[in-house]
Amino acid sequence: MQSSSGKGQFDATVASNRQVGERFYKLRLVFSGHGAAAFAKFEPGQFVQIDVSGAALPSGDRMPTELINTVKRDILLRRPFSFADVTRDGDKTSAELLYRVVGPATLRMTTLSNGNLVNIIGPLGKGFSISQGKKTSLLVIGGMGAPPILHLARVLTAEHHNIEVEAFAGAKTVKELPFEGRLDEISRQLGFSIPEFAECGIKSQVATDDGSAGHEGVVTELLERWLDVKPGLSPDEAIIYACGPEAMLAKVAEIARERNIDCQISMERMMACGIGVCQSCAVECQVEGSNETVYKLCCEDGPVFDSGQVVFQL
Ligand SMILES: Cc1cc2nc3c(=O)[nH]c(=O)nc-3n(C[C@H](O)[C@H](O)[C@H](O)COP(=O)(O)OP(=O)(O)OC[C@H]3O[C@@H](n4cnc5c(N)ncnc54)[C@H](O)[C@@H]3O)c2cc1C
Ligand code: FES
Repeated sequence: MQSSSGKGQFDATVASNRQVGERFYKLRLVFSGHGAAAFAKFEPGQFVQIDVSGAALPSGDRMPTELINTVKRDILLRRPFSFADVTRDGDKTSAELLYRVVGPATLRMTTLSNGNLVNIIGPLGKGFSISQGKKTSLLVIGGMGAPPILHLARVLTAEHHNIEVEAFAGAKTVKELPFEGRLDEISRQLGFSIPEFAECGIKSQVATDDGSAGHEGVVTELLERWLDVKPGLSPDEAIIYACGPEAMLAKVAEIARERNIDCQISMERMMACGIGVCQSCAVECQVEGSNETVYKLCCEDGPVFDSGQVVFQL
């Protein structure tokens, strides 16, 4: 089932599903036929709605204790996810979903195995837009905001060689950084470089609230520090892209406004339908040139918004 806009409902085949951190997994999905064509055009920041209602729960010893009381409930609704990577390989399209186990759906996702089919609606929403006029892209991640920014990093470095890219990632502790391996080794080093960004030739810095890796403090301090030592940077030629908790996005928006730098942020809302029907995903936005606000839909008007238009709910 596919609409004229390219979005539709497709079955994807699980190619792998592996644990990459205490609570983090990478699920690789392969689309063929119409799904391969639809997802080959998937933009960084867009999302999908996944049905995992048929997936099994893991055995009791693999259930996080604090989730035991809630995870057994049935999953009635699909869940929204971004992709961290999308690649075309012949007549197939492969997508990487990086997820954190937080409740019944993500816990069930851990039991998906090679060859299982997963029903997916997408591509949905509006993603990040890349402008050729911007010579510097600054990527800011808070915790599980990593997937769409990793996808953007991969597209920027593969298709836009003239753009300089720098990445900044923050989390409460080193264990909550959703990147693969080598965290202990890296956390001992100054100048922390995240493997996923290093693979694309992108310099990266890390901040953790408790100082267990990189800078002790919040990630926006790293962004400000970087901007402070770049007096030659022309604000017109730079752009900030961010995804993470709303408080972090609000701070990134403030930094961008003060320094006249364009900024796009990916917002997160509970999404019951993902297609503009249920109205559960409202984002309050400023009307340009007025004090009035309107409610836009995160699933259709976003999830990526210009930071200047969002009224943050803090
Ligand atoms: C556009 C978009 C893209 C996303 N991409 C990713 C991704 O790439 N990887 C990933 O791990 N997660 C992503 N998420 C979040 C993911 O949808 C939720 O973690 C998932 O739905 C949780 O389902 P669950 O049944 O396991 O837990 P639930 O029981 O449904 O939720 C567990 C806890 O997380 C909170 N929560 C769940 N969904 C949201 C939400 N949308 N906004 C704020 N709080 C929420 C709930 O309030 C609850 O406290 C994305 C969300 C959106 C809106
Ligand atoms: S999730 Fe239903 S309208 Fe946005």
